Amino acid sequence: MSDKATLEINGEKYEFPILVGSEKEVAIDIKSLRSATGGVITLDPGYKNTGSCESAITFLDGENGVLRYRGYSIEELAEKADFLEVAYLLIFGELPTKEQLDKFDKDIKSHSVVDDDIKKILDAFPKSAHPMGVLSSLTSALTAFYPTSVDVTSEEQMYNSIVRILAKFPVLVAWTLRKKHGLPLDYGDNKLSYVENILKMMFKSPSSDYEQNPILVNALDKLLILHADHEQNCSTSTVRIAGSSHAGLFVSLASGISALWGPLHGGANQAVLEMLEAIKADGGDTKKYMAKAKDKNDPFRLMGFGHRVYKNFDPRAKIIKAAADEVLNDLGIDDPILDIAKGLAKEALEDPYFIDRKLYPNVDFYSGIIYRAMGIPVEMFTVMFALGRLPGWIAQWREMRLRNEPIGRPRQLYIGETLREFKTIEKR
Ligand code: CMC
Repeated sequence: MSDKATLEINGEKYEFPILVGSEKEVAIDIKSLRSATGGVITLDPGYKNTGSCESAITFLDGENGVLRYRGYSIEELAEKADFLEVAYLLIFGELPTKEQLDKFDKDIKSHSVVDDDIKKILDAFPKSAHPMGVLSSLTSALTAFYPTSVDVTSEEQMYNSIVRILAKFPVLVAWTLRKKHGLPLDYGDNKLSYVENILKMMFKSPSSDYEQNPILVNALDKLLILHADHEQNCSTSTVRIAGSSHAGLFVSLASGISALWGPLHGGANQAVLEMLEAIKADGGDTKKYMAKAKDKNDPFRLMGFGHRVYKNFDPRAKIIKAAADEVLNDLGIDDPILDIAKGLAKEALEDPYFIDRKLYPNVDFYSGIIYRAMGIPVEMFTVMFALGRLPGWIAQWREMRLRNEPIGRPRQLYIGETLREFKTIEKR
């Protein structure tokens, strides 16, 4: 392949370097386009064809359903690693040695107390507040309690902020849930593993001990690993672009949490369950909802289907489907919602509309079913996604800082009015 791409505009030829990634992905480097051509830009709404950065964290091949963190396949990581090891891998680039993992764990645990004043902020939210909004606000508020986190030039401060947020985020998540359910706020137990601690903090009743269920611990560990990074998706790009202004880690993460909230992104897991419930309440007629999804005059979409990059299958969905079956079998749960989900998936996978558009069940089609079996309320599903995505956001933010990337500032093609004269109010 040539190492240059040629662009011709009005008879003038311009050459741009062709870059090849470590997995032979090809990109035209258009950094000099605007200056070379005297103002021409590219237009790519939704960034479907635009690489925003070079990154060494996650490799994703949507055509072949491949997902790797730092070169390790998601299948192998989900089977052999735990979430904290994966977090270390994503953030620092290598699987940790025993000593490195112990230190990381110890550093995180040393920050597991959240300032009591954060409870006052939490208290100011009504019970009706969506947990994603609460979590985004509390994450942002941490900056006020740890002002050194705004120093993004010091690697030491960056490390402190990283272990701080990894320690405090699960506490904030648990508090958000407990506040909603009117339960007293509490801390975890540093003797437990990261994932065991999350479950205990969320579910411990004030009047009894919390008994860990290894099936749930294992399932949650897997779910968090599968959600841990997904290269330049909407929320991650938001974290990177917010951080590119040299904003601190906590506020950059708060922006990412807000971006994740929407139903086309992380909010899809909640939307899937709500959709399945609605189908059940409407008599369980999956064919009716398939027809709605295909009707161009109906805004209804089959939630949990389709993906911007996976156009063959979502490898995370495969692993999660198996985990969902395992959890439901082990817990002896017979859930009619699961039958509706299976029916929809079968119909969609055989339907030309879905086949032609390469629409397959995505990770969120099955994750909600497991969360529900675990007793996690629907409005917390996207929060669980955020909990998993946290190391990915951190890794991407840190990479962006260490590479000293320029501030993110896209251009636009202006299609508004040209210069016109101001009209006084009487003449309008
Ligand atoms: N149900 C029905 N039709 C669909 C669906 C769906 N879920 N998804 C896409 N389509 C159709 C769409 O109408 C369009 O049809 P046509 O070409 O006739 O106009 C075609 O498929 C392409 O859709 P698109 O919206 O241009 O594709 P996209 O890459 O911009 O959108 C998506 C990807 C995930 C936003 C979209 O598939 C969707 O809205 N899915 C449902 C929401 C969902 O499950 N999101 C979770 C994604 S996985 C978690 C994460 O990583 O965030």
